Amino acid sequence: MEFLAKSAQPEKLKCSCLAVTLFDGGAFSVSAQKVDDASNGAISKILKLGDFTGAAEQSVLLPAPTGIQAQRLLLIGLGKLPIAAKSFRKSIGAALTKVSGSKAKDLTICFDGVDVADRDITWMVSQTGEVAATATYTFNQFKSKDQKKDIELAKITFLAADKKIQTSIAAAAKTAQAIGNGMNTTRTLGNLPGNECPPAYLAKEAKKIARGQKKLSVKVIEEKEMQELGMGALLSVSAGSDQPAKLIIMNYSGGKKGDAPHILVGKGVTFDTGGISLKPGADMDQMKFDMCGAASVLGTMQAIVEMELPLNVIGVITSAENMPSGGATRPGDIVTSMAGLTIEILNTDAEGRLVLCDALTYVKKFKPASVIDIATLTGACLVALGNHTSGMLGNDDSVMDNLRFAADSTLDAVWQLPMGEEYLKQLDTPFADMANIGGRYAGTITAACFLSRFTEDYPWAHLDIAGTAWISSGPKKGATGRPVPLLTQYLINQV
Ligand code: BES
Ligand code: MN
Ligand code: ZN
Repeated sequence: MEFLAKSAQPEKLKCSCLAVTLFDGGAFSVSAQKVDDASNGAISKILKLGDFTGAAEQSVLLPAPTGIQAQRLLLIGLGKLPIAAKSFRKSIGAALTKVSGSKAKDLTICFDGVDVADRDITWMVSQTGEVAATATYTFNQFKSKDQKKDIELAKITFLAADKKIQTSIAAAAKTAQAIGNGMNTTRTLGNLPGNECPPAYLAKEAKKIARGQKKLSVKVIEEKEMQELGMGALLSVSAGSDQPAKLIIMNYSGGKKGDAPHILVGKGVTFDTGGISLKPGADMDQMKFDMCGAASVLGTMQAIVEMELPLNVIGVITSAENMPSGGATRPGDIVTSMAGLTIEILNTDAEGRLVLCDALTYVKKFKPASVIDIATLTGACLVALGNHTSGMLGNDDSVMDNLRFAADSTLDAVWQLPMGEEYLKQLDTPFADMANIGGRYAGTITAACFLSRFTEDYPWAHLDIAGTAWISSGPKKGATGRPVPLLTQYLINQV
């Protein structure tokens, strides 16, 4: 998907589809008025029929009326001005889904006169870019030829009212393109089945993103080196699998030499059977998505490389497959983490925190400005927040404030849950420094408390994306690409 900015008269523009906006009660935007004037009242006629009123989430796609140069005309209803941010996003989504179902290869959108509450034109462009990337995404690679459904729409041009605004629109379009591409990389990695995407595949993907990039280097730590580093927790997860664990370090030096890096650590469990604490069979296929944290780190790294963000960022992917076998870790086994803390593994299905804790210890040596880990960590997070909002916990209010701020602008929502001594105590055990589970209640919090023992030396936040990383049923089943918009915006705001 490509996004551009241009200034031109909408009615004179040659393109496969021209989109103009209308508001409640059929009120015209400037461009809608121009198109109506040039086409002998074509839009007015449609409004008169009553099929389209300009209400939010309403849209019609028409063969272009005579008098304009585009091949198709898309009317986008946005509802009552000023438009709520979420409503704008939904309306654009509905309209773009319509276009992506047509044969139109390119689309030109005019946003003149559109007023979204507390947001500006660059925000509209960013959101539209992201929504467009989502609306045109396909995951066809395992379908036979005749089962493939291709989408033609590949380019969106934003019409600017004047040259001055064109510059900022162009910049926003470029960012949107990078975020959209990053999200789609994340979605494809998430959607890949476990047999196609073991830890080694994530390592290959990291190297692919770094290919030809002077500012991005990739290092892969293999199991032998993990052993030497004392990463007993991470290794305990891959013990039952034929697929070796990989710890992947992507070092992007876009900022000044010596500036402390921001670090993203992603959970990359490429398939989570639960191990010896085997999960029930129903819906277990969804545990191929248990590497969506890692995939979001790869997608975000790709986005910031594409944007050439002037910031030092390290992406870490901690990856293993959680399988039962004769070599697998047993409930009750005690392992020693890289930090030296011993862990009694009371449930082998609480493996995410085990792969994360050694990675979180490893990154200390980079003296980070901030560390964010992203993980499909607990089913309890789904119970607490559902599919709409990612859980956020951490030891640093400023990192969490910054995440909240980025979440608000991208609509990639987070909600903070509390932590504290009382919860941490739930991890006590007579047999080791800590257990890997904290009992029946507050599962998302005790998981974060477990991680907090390994993050005491730097500002840290944890995102539990168990509910938001994928849609679990229906025709839209698949990875969402979240929280790539949130993470990318967070990093942009650090520059
Ligand atoms: N990957 C799962 C968490 C998960 C479950 C995410 C369902 C999305 C949907 C994680 O490894 C896990 O199994 N967590 C356990 C922890 C428990 C054993 C303390 C869980 O949530 O049940
Ligand atoms: Mn698990
Ligand atoms: Zn898991």
